[in-house]
Amino acid sequence: AQTNALKIATIPGDGIGREVVPEGMRVLEAVGRKFDIAFQFDEVDWSCETYKQTGRMMPEDGLERFKKHDAVFLGAVGWPDVPDHVSLWGLLIPIRRTFHQYVNLRPCRLLRGTTSPLAGRTADDIDFYVVRENVEGEYSEAGGRLYRGMDDEIAIQEAIFTRRGVDRVLRYAFELAKTRKRGHVTSATKSNGIVHTMPFWDERFKAVKADYPDIETSQYHIDILCAHFVQHPDWFDVVVGSNLFGDILSDLGPAVAGSIGIAPSANINPEGDYPSMFEPVHGSAPDIAGQGIANPIGQIWSAAMMLDHLGHPEASAAVIEAMETVIADPASRTKDMGGKANTAECGEAIAQVLAG
Ligand code: NAI
Ligand code: MG
Repeated sequence: AQTNALKIATIPGDGIGREVVPEGMRVLEAVGRKFDIAFQFDEVDWSCETYKQTGRMMPEDGLERFKKHDAVFLGAVGWPDVPDHVSLWGLLIPIRRTFHQYVNLRPCRLLRGTTSPLAGRTADDIDFYVVRENVEGEYSEAGGRLYRGMDDEIAIQEAIFTRRGVDRVLRYAFELAKTRKRGHVTSATKSNGIVHTMPFWDERFKAVKADYPDIETSQYHIDILCAHFVQHPDWFDVVVGSNLFGDILSDLGPAVAGSIGIAPSANINPEGDYPSMFEPVHGSAPDIAGQGIANPIGQIWSAAMMLDHLGHPEASAAVIEAMETVIADPASRTKDMGGKANTAECGEAIAQVLAG
């Protein structure tokens, strides 16, 4: 490997993760040749398979190994015979938290050549980002269970909102909006029903906003905001939410922009003190795993986000351009997009456009 190569920790994971990650790597190699970027892929087999053999999703010192890497490139983890909380808390959440990836970023953009499930919407109408707080908030281990199995059984789940944690994700959203044509930030809230953390979130939104006089803002309660995503996707540019609200919006947003198979995401440590992680939105898709028919676009678009994050915006744009060129041709699309191509054919076609 070249000494100046980008060091990428590669985790294919389970199911179709193992089928789409190689296509992502193929496209990275192709765009690397064009833009003179070298990659060193350090692949590990951390997965539910590993869990069944060793009792752990990854070795105890696993993350120590990748602390100095440039990025993590992940497929998907999860398999029906292992409880989902094991795969999530045994691998994904430790990576996000250990590497301080406090922003989860998902573009929601209708690609050329794809159709939205929303009637009459074109690529001009759907082009926004969901910025989700990724390490605190509602997804916390604080709380507990009492009187298990008895009539008086109690479950308590606490949400953790810190000023530092809230401000930095809000600030990330405003900084992102500054780079965009519209320059608009929408905040997802629910301060009418959740009376401690959400009014706090609203206060911090107002405080951070004061530092960005050129950015327009709006805020909606999460329930009506979901409705607006469907009825008025053109209203949005950058949408910021807590861990739970961001989780919901970051599935709904890509859904209005087409198939789950194409949606990418990034788990970002904005300061670059730790590697960021890039992965498709979809999971391991046990129902189609092993058939070679998974759509590799979500993985490949995640690779494009990784290139952008690592300081190669032209290479990133070239990947997206090649992706759009290929899926404009129905023959190169996978089955979920109404085509007949298999996973490798779709990936190869994109790599070829980049080579051409
Ligand atoms: P899923 O995203 O794996 O599948 C949902 C549906 O979308 C399935 O019908 C699947 O065939 C289809 N689909 C997904 N990706 C596709 C692609 N690239 N091409 C064509 N069709 C595609 O979600 P599901 O079924 O809820 O979860 C399966 C497993 O994946 C679970 O164990 C879950 O915990 C895990 N999971 C892992 C994630 C991650 O690693 N970040 C994210 C979501 C789920
Ligand atoms: Mg989700």
